[in-house]
Amino acid sequence: MPTYGFAIAIVAIVVCAYGHDCTKYNLTPSDQSLIDMMKHYLHTSRKADCPLTPIQQDIGVTYVRWGKKTCPGNTDIVYSGQTGGNYYTNNGGGSNWLCLPNDPENGNVSSNSNDGLYGAEYQINSSNNPSGFPTNLYNKEVPCSVCRRKGKFSVLVIAGKKSCYKGWKSEYSGFLISEYKGHTNADFICMDGEAEQLDNRSSNEEGALLYPVRAKCGSLRCPPYKDNTVVLCTVCTK
Ligand SMILES: *[C@@H]1O[C@H](CO)[C@@H](O)[C@H](O)[C@H]1NC(C)=O
Ligand SMILES: *[C@@H]1O[C@H](CO)[C@@H](O)[C@H](O)[C@H]1NC(C)=O
Ligand SMILES: *[C@@H]1O[C@H](CO)[C@@H](O)[C@H](O)[C@H]1NC(C)=O
Repeated sequence: MPTYGFAIAIVAIVVCAYGHDCTKYNLTPSDQSLIDMMKHYLHTSRKADCPLTPIQQDIGVTYVRWGKKTCPGNTDIVYSGQTGGNYYTNNGGGSNWLCLPNDPENGNVSSNSNDGLYGAEYQINSSNNPSGFPTNLYNKEVPCSVCRRKGKFSVLVIAGKKSCYKGWKSEYSGFLISEYKGHTNADFICMDGEAEQLDNRSSNEEGALLYPVRAKCGSLRCPPYKDNTVVLCTVCTK
């Protein structure tokens, strides 16, 4: 009887090996990796033929371009506006910068002593002007625009570089900006290196004030950083 069973097993293997419709085989790990490789090859070589689904067409990322009324080429502008923030001597209130639309919908008048929202002014003149930055913006108000880059999945602001890492595209680059160290603190933002003025008024109205930021050696390692150098920045998408 054991011999008989063995014979059946042999027949089963032979049928399996030579039959045309056998599916009862096991894939070895190397078979599987061959299949994966072929799938990957077909996927990448035929990707161009593959129509975009409506959801993929809609994918995009948004970012604020500080200091400009327009968006970089091939991006959509969501809106343009004016940079707003907290008053430079206030202790409470927000520390972030806002890109406020030029066509606001205003609430009703309210009297209280809560924090206010102020426009931002460039405090950049010959005493602290980063080289390459426009020289005529002192006390001018600061435009901004919200831009949308279609077909990208990620957006990243890098302080300390003007170019993006491999595989990323620079949307714009410029200088790291924040409040003066003796004023109320505010976020760092990346100001476009070709910043412009909101309008032609240059009265010293104060509000939220923008100053370039320098690198300070110590806990910040030098090299690679360098003491008292203007900090560059860029906004990257991928
Ligand atoms: C402003 O007040 C009026 C009158 O009370 C009210 O009808 C309106 O909805 C208010 N507007 C807003 C934006 O709250
Ligand atoms: C330049 O800006 C600084 C900082 O706001 C200010 O203290 C200084 O008076 C300005 N200098 C000129 C020449 O406007
Ligand atoms: C500022 O004034 C100049 C000269 O009068 C004018 O050409 C320009 O359009 C004005 N800019 C703005 C933003 O109003």
